[in-house]
Amino acid sequence: MTIREAFVWTEKKINKADSPQLDAEVLLSHTIKKSKEFLFANPDFKLSSLQFSIYRSLIQKRDRHWPVSYLIGHKEFYGLDFKVTPHVLIPRPETELLVELAIQKIKNKRLAIRNILDIGTGSGCIITSIAVIASQRRSNLKFYATDVSNSALKIAKSNARRHSVAKKIKFLHSNLLSTLPATAYKLPSLILANLPYLTPSQYNSNLDLKHEPRAALVAGPDGLKYYRKLFRQIRNSPNPSYPKRGTPPLSLRGGREGLLTLLLEHDPSQTSKLKFLTKQYFPQAKLKFHRDLSGLNRVLEINL
Ligand SMILES: C[S@@+](CC[C@H](N)C(=O)[O-])C[C@H]1O[C@@H](n2cnc3c(N)ncnc32)[C@H](O)[C@@H]1O
Repeated sequence: MTIREAFVWTEKKINKADSPQLDAEVLLSHTIKKSKEFLFANPDFKLSSLQFSIYRSLIQKRDRHWPVSYLIGHKEFYGLDFKVTPHVLIPRPETELLVELAIQKIKNKRLAIRNILDIGTGSGCIITSIAVIASQRRSNLKFYATDVSNSALKIAKSNARRHSVAKKIKFLHSNLLSTLPATAYKLPSLILANLPYLTPSQYNSNLDLKHEPRAALVAGPDGLKYYRKLFRQIRNSPNPSYPKRGTPPLSLRGGREGLLTLLLEHDPSQTSKLKFLTKQYFPQAKLKFHRDLSGLNRVLEINL
């Protein structure tokens, strides 16, 4: 079978994907280990029977809603290539906003950030991207990343190694902040989290999510289970430098923003609930919602 014939065959087979032609190109070029340009320049190139059988099985999986990134084993995020397996969430373009905001904070000399904590690191895409960019400018930053999934941590470490920042990041198996060492609590700090935030019905109604780890996506009936738990852990932290119940308002601490800054990715529909929840735990907090490229609230910044 030639490349041209393979595309004709695919047209009849894959119809459930959003972009069937694009998916077919990616999967075919992955199978024959040639660029997309090669596919167009050589439509009469003959696939071996092994190549066609691999391609056919990829197309069949795609038709059963397997994400292309799992089928080819990697995904681009913030201009870097990340290994992904079904043990980790596939990095999403909207999460690049979190990275962008974190880099702005790190560059802001007035904030003098020392520690960067990525909670629920998954593939490690957030902390690795930041470590790559930040280490080109400053060397005194400390990076920590946690996850409850050991399989995810393995992938995150291998991604950090792939981008030569593994030695800079301490990866910890941890329920949110629970096993962080005392040094990680030093302020000023930046806590970044793209924790699970979907409700079970949001998850169940989207067939495209069914091959990604449920535990990386779903967070109790209102999708806020993990952010609620994170706030509780921060407020009850035994570390004296962390904000406690009754921490004075920013104005009484010299109005200095960002001793502890949180950047949390969330679903746009959670805006008011999340605002209410944050004020419940940290009445003095200064909040700001940041919008994604679709103009929807996507990242909540909390200054404590
Ligand atoms: C939505 S995924 C985000 C992964 C990655 N940060 C990203 O943006 O692509 C959430 C991650 O949080 C992890 N997670 C869930 N509950 C956790 C907990 N209690 N403590 C630490 N990590 C948790 C999941 O295993 C998963 O890797």
